[in-house]
Amino acid sequence: KDMLEGGAFGDSGAEIVIEETLYGEEASIHAIVSGDSFVCLPPSQDHKRAGEGDTGLNTGGMGAYTPTSRVTAEMQAAIEEAVIKPTIAGFKADGIEFNGTLYAGLMLTDHGVKVLEYNVRFGDPETQVLLPMVSDDLVPVLLASAKGEPLPEKLNFHDGAAIVIVLAAGGYPGSYPKGEIITFPKEIANRAAIVHAGTKRDEAGTITTNGGRVLSVSSQAPSLKEAAELAYSVCDQVNFESKYLRRDIGHRELNRK
Ligand code: GLY
Repeated sequence: KDMLEGGAFGDSGAEIVIEETLYGEEASIHAIVSGDSFVCLPPSQDHKRAGEGDTGLNTGGMGAYTPTSRVTAEMQAAIEEAVIKPTIAGFKADGIEFNGTLYAGLMLTDHGVKVLEYNVRFGDPETQVLLPMVSDDLVPVLLASAKGEPLPEKLNFHDGAAIVIVLAAGGYPGSYPKGEIITFPKEIANRAAIVHAGTKRDEAGTITTNGGRVLSVSSQAPSLKEAAELAYSVCDQVNFESKYLRRDIGHRELNRK
């Protein structure tokens, strides 16, 4: 009713499509593409639900981590063969010159890997964990992709893992307050970063909330557990009145080990 009569999602909510339900865990595969060639970033997983234990409403993403043991090296190679390569060939067959980031959202089902969606952009919040893992200088690679020039054969990555925790405004993804003053720690460990999303800075330099997903805190460390401990310690030092975060980002991977 909200969609069809209330216009909840504008024109996008005017039509209902019924599809097969796929059960499993989602994984995100990012490929940087230049013409026929591509290089992949490590497989990542995000947590789309608002509530802990992956419950509640779907959001843009409440946190993410990389790598994931759910996508083995063999599976990654199979996904590149069965998903990424045919998609790039499809671009070509359709006369589309595609240079940029191809992000496939996948469902890892008991009946194999299924493609849920493609985006021609980096994932959010996956990017906040993928970029800290790259040990090469990524700028020349992105520039080569943008210009359709040759890419390196492969990218090099740090050992270990990365995690990102989203700090949302209370009520998100429903209605939420704006304009709350945000306070930050004076300094943070250099393996952590605070990334702004729904924030605003006034002329006096005061930073306030201005969106549902307000900020995210990412960290890269030798293990996912260490990355999570560091990221959550920074999350606890960033404050605004309605701050909401999930305390269980990475729980599947942490419990697998
Ligand atoms: N993490 C979901 C998205 O970027 O679409």
